[in-house]
Amino acid sequence: MELFDVYSLFNVTPVRAKGCKVWDDKGQEYLDLYGGHAVISVGHCHPHYNEVLTDQLGKIGFYSNSVRNPLQEELARRIGIASGYEDYSLFLDNSGAESNENAAKLASFHTGRDRIVAFKRSFHGRTSGAVAMTDNPAIVSPFNAHHKVTFCELNDAAAVEAELAKGDVAGVIVEGIQGCGGIHVPAPGFLPELDRLCKKYGAVLILDEVQSGYGRTGKFFAHQWAGIRPGIITMGKGIANGFPCGGILIAPEFQARKGMLGTTFGGNYLACAGAIAVLDIIEREHLVENALAVGEYIKENLPKSPRIKEVRGKGLMLGIEFNEPVAPLRQALLYDKHIFTGVAGQNMIRLLAPLCLTKAEADEFLTAFKEVLG
Ligand SMILES: Cc1ncc(COP(=O)(O)O)c(C=O)c1O
Repeated sequence: MELFDVYSLFNVTPVRAKGCKVWDDKGQEYLDLYGGHAVISVGHCHPHYNEVLTDQLGKIGFYSNSVRNPLQEELARRIGIASGYEDYSLFLDNSGAESNENAAKLASFHTGRDRIVAFKRSFHGRTSGAVAMTDNPAIVSPFNAHHKVTFCELNDAAAVEAELAKGDVAGVIVEGIQGCGGIHVPAPGFLPELDRLCKKYGAVLILDEVQSGYGRTGKFFAHQWAGIRPGIITMGKGIANGFPCGGILIAPEFQARKGMLGTTFGGNYLACAGAIAVLDIIEREHLVENALAVGEYIKENLPKSPRIKEVRGKGLMLGIEFNEPVAPLRQALLYDKHIFTGVAGQNMIRLLAPLCLTKAEADEFLTAFKEVLG
């Protein structure tokens, strides 16, 4: 049997990793400024993370959500403290898409309405509702296209209000910072205005923090820079440093009902143990502060080049937009300088490094980047 061929692959085979470094099958070392797509939050193979997960595997790895699981309660308590959302509740699932799916479903249950407002250039995942809320027709199948979703321009509050005024909108979903669509930070005042409008028209504001959350931008969630408290916050990626895990934080006004949401694997012992270990490390090593400091250091020290159009983002969620396609530059960074980077569209290099990136590692990138820029 062969693999269903849907991924474009680089010709690299990682076999070992530590911190922000990855080694391939030939022993070549790479600097990881991509974090496996923003998933590696506390660094590869962190000893505390490995120890906690290994220890948990020796105790109990899985049972269902029909029994008490103290690790889920501990994780809820810890996320509440770390994020400042102690009065919210936590529902655990397995991925970013599933979190957004659950958020839209909950907003719909809560309001009795069936339409979602999303934004141009959004990415919310690939499951049915999540991909329907994603502004990329190439990945939306005819089956997914039946969901009721309206796309507005990011930062166009008047357009959102016009949709909300129709009275059938269950929720408005927005990324803390748009990631896959090209690192677009909501304009100052836009998120508070969305919050106000959702409250005015009885819709739920859903903040997708799957990529921008978990400390990446220098606050626990990117929307906290705007000082708002949304109805639902969705999480994934860095929450358990690569062990599949997702979840949503739910404001106190939402009423739970037995069977309303559910999952087989979500909140399993290994995912919870991994996620608790991630919070231990984030706190002990001050990784939220580090993400901001090292990210801003990179931003300030990027070379000034006429080839670079704009640098956007916050902390370790950075986009370097070029006036030209970046594929040759990324190839040079990967194969000549041995540095992993991400991409958004054709013209943007996207950096999503582990939150433990050091200034010395940032300098390694900056030197190599200047050289490949020429
Ligand atoms: C903002 C955002 N939401 C949702 C998702 C989907 O997450 P997953 O791939 O874990 O389903 C992603 C993935 O890139 C994302 O960037």
